[in-house]
Amino acid sequence: MKIIITGATGFIGRNLAESLHDEGNQITATGRSRQVGNQLIKRGIEFTACDILDQDSLKSAFSAADLLIHCAGRTADRGSYSEFYQVNVVGTRNVIDACRQNDISRIIFISTPSVYYSGSDRFNVTESEPLPRKQFPYGKTKLIAEEELQSAAKEGISSIILRPRAVYGRYDGTIVPRILELSAGKKFPLINGGEAMVDITCIENLASAIRNCLAAPVSSWNQVYNISNGDPVSVREWFSTVLDIFNRPFRPKNIPGPLAYGFAGVMEFLSKMSQGRIKPAMTRFSVGYMSRSLTMSIEKARQKLGYRPGISNREGFLRYREWLEEQKESE
Ligand SMILES: NC(=O)c1ccc[n+]([C@@H]2O[C@H](COP(=O)([O-])OP(=O)(O)OC[C@H]3O[C@@H](n4cnc5c(N)ncnc54)[C@H](OP(=O)(O)O)[C@@H]3O)[C@@H](O)[C@H]2O)c1
Repeated sequence: MKIIITGATGFIGRNLAESLHDEGNQITATGRSRQVGNQLIKRGIEFTACDILDQDSLKSAFSAADLLIHCAGRTADRGSYSEFYQVNVVGTRNVIDACRQNDISRIIFISTPSVYYSGSDRFNVTESEPLPRKQFPYGKTKLIAEEELQSAAKEGISSIILRPRAVYGRYDGTIVPRILELSAGKKFPLINGGEAMVDITCIENLASAIRNCLAAPVSSWNQVYNISNGDPVSVREWFSTVLDIFNRPFRPKNIPGPLAYGFAGVMEFLSKMSQGRIKPAMTRFSVGYMSRSLTMSIEKARQKLGYRPGISNREGFLRYREWLEEQKESE
């Protein structure tokens, strides 16, 4: 298949570009970072630098294709609503327009389960449950992007929207690196004792979900799917597993949720007052993410996409460690 990938210079998009290329698909990888772009080119993958906020650059990067995987997005845990809106909403709109101009009629969009976050514990959430009205800018703007894609169906552009939770694996520069960084301190901060139950997703399982999407029947398109390893864990177990695999000490220290939330609010205020010079150690979004349970049903993906998460939570971390070791050896 000829597949265009946006955000192919980022963690998820790069993994997809490499694995789908290795499986014999013709990939056009796009993104802003020329440095990562050159590494993709070295691997034999076609790369075109492209900013999704610049319609001219999108025009020259896109050409006719069987399908587009839209991974580009603003993923930071901080930033103003308009910063998120620009990339996640305006950027997605531009990508849909560029697809229309190039007769690309199928889009797979990597959205997020952050749209489910309500500030309360939620278990086994399905895709059809009502969504909270109040959202953090990230979740809110990803949800608007989903709506943009859903409206494009009227004009013949079909989409599959995936909501994978806490993705980890090779090229991940966020989740596992942050856990390892925190383990270097005297105590490892665990909000609410790390009791919150969460889903996590290794990149191999997400890639297999995407493969299933490529082969999915028409009736499985224009739908939203939760994606995870299908094995929820407590935050405490998640972090201790990672540290065990990386042979690092785990010295947890409980931080009550309300205290962490209040502290994060003050940090965000100071950051805003200093026009971003002060970087908050935690944000209300990240505290909510770690202190509230959010587990999801993946039954719909099993039924309609034939999704089977074949890699366990632990195996995913082991693979990531092996990959990091290979990287170090080749340096
Ligand atoms: N990682 C997770 O756990 C997770 C979970 C659920 C959903 N998601 C979603 O999955 C997608 C990919 O996430 P990720 O973890 O791979 O994030 P990431 O590593 O931060 O990658 C983001 C990608 O978006 C690109 N991008 C940002 N602004 C752009 C712009 N204006 N024009 C063109 N490209 C732009 C970046 O390009 P450059 O680096 O070249 O600037 C990068 O390739 C995101 O949409 C995110 O919402 C991620």
